Amino acid sequence: MLFDTHVHLNVEHFDEDREEVLERAKEAGVGQMVIVGFDHETIPKAIEMAEKHSHIYAAVGWHPVDAIDMTEKELDWLKELSSHPKVVALGEMGLDYHWDKSPKDVQKDVFRKQIQLAKQVDLPIIIHNREATEDIIQILQEERASEVGGIMHCYNDSVKYIDACLDMNFYISLGGPVTFKNAKLPKEVAAYVPEDRLLIETDCPFLAPHPNRGKRNEPAYVKLVAEKIAELRGEDFDTICRMTTENARRFFSIDV
Ligand code: NI
Repeated sequence: MLFDTHVHLNVEHFDEDREEVLERAKEAGVGQMVIVGFDHETIPKAIEMAEKHSHIYAAVGWHPVDAIDMTEKELDWLKELSSHPKVVALGEMGLDYHWDKSPKDVQKDVFRKQIQLAKQVDLPIIIHNREATEDIIQILQEERASEVGGIMHCYNDSVKYIDACLDMNFYISLGGPVTFKNAKLPKEVAAYVPEDRLLIETDCPFLAPHPNRGKRNEPAYVKLVAEKIAELRGEDFDTICRMTTENARRFFSIDV
C-alpha cells in the first residue's frame, strides 16, 4: 500500500472527475493521502474531503506566494482548524522566491508566525521551498521547528542540505521530478535519505511523473515515484511502499 503525502485534489482541476480520480488511486494501491489546503478556497475543500473519506487527511496552511494576504484573521482560522480530528499537519508554508507577489520580508514573517502556531498547537509542518533553501533552514533553526518536525515537500535541492533537515527532525518527500530523465538532484537525494525519513508524494495536479510528464498529475501516479525510488536505492518496490507508508503514518500520527 502507498501513502501520497501531498495532494491537491481540492483544486478546480479535479472538479469534473474527483471521484473517479479517487477510484483510480485505490486501484493503484494508494490507501491513504493528505490533501493540502493553502488559501481561502482550498482549505475548506480539504477539510470537507477529509470528513467525507476515512482514508483522507488534511493539512492547512498559508502559501508563501500569497503571504501578503494573510492577516491575524487567517492565522486565527488556522488555529481553530488545527484541532479538527482530521487535520494532521500545518502547511504548506515556507518561502517562494520564484514569484514576487509577496515581498521576501512578508513571506518570512508569515512563515515564522505559522511555525510558532504549529508549536503552540503541537502539529508538524509541511514546507514549500522554491529557490530559498538556505533562508528556510535558517528560519526553521531560529524558530526551533525541530520541536514539531516537518516535511521538506517535493525536495529539489542538493544533498548538502539534507543533514541539516534531518537534524531538525525533518522528513524528505520526493515526487514526480525524481522520475524525470534530466533530474540529477532528486535522484541523488533518493539514494541518500535514511530509510526512516523518506516520504513520497505527487503534489498533484502538478509535476506528473514520467511518462506522464506535462499532463495533469493524480495520486495513482505516486506508484511511479515509488518504483523509481526502489530502482535508485536498489531495493524492491514492496520494501519502498512499506517503508514510506510507515514513515508517513508515524509522521502524521495516524495509527491504522
Ligand atoms: Ni503543494
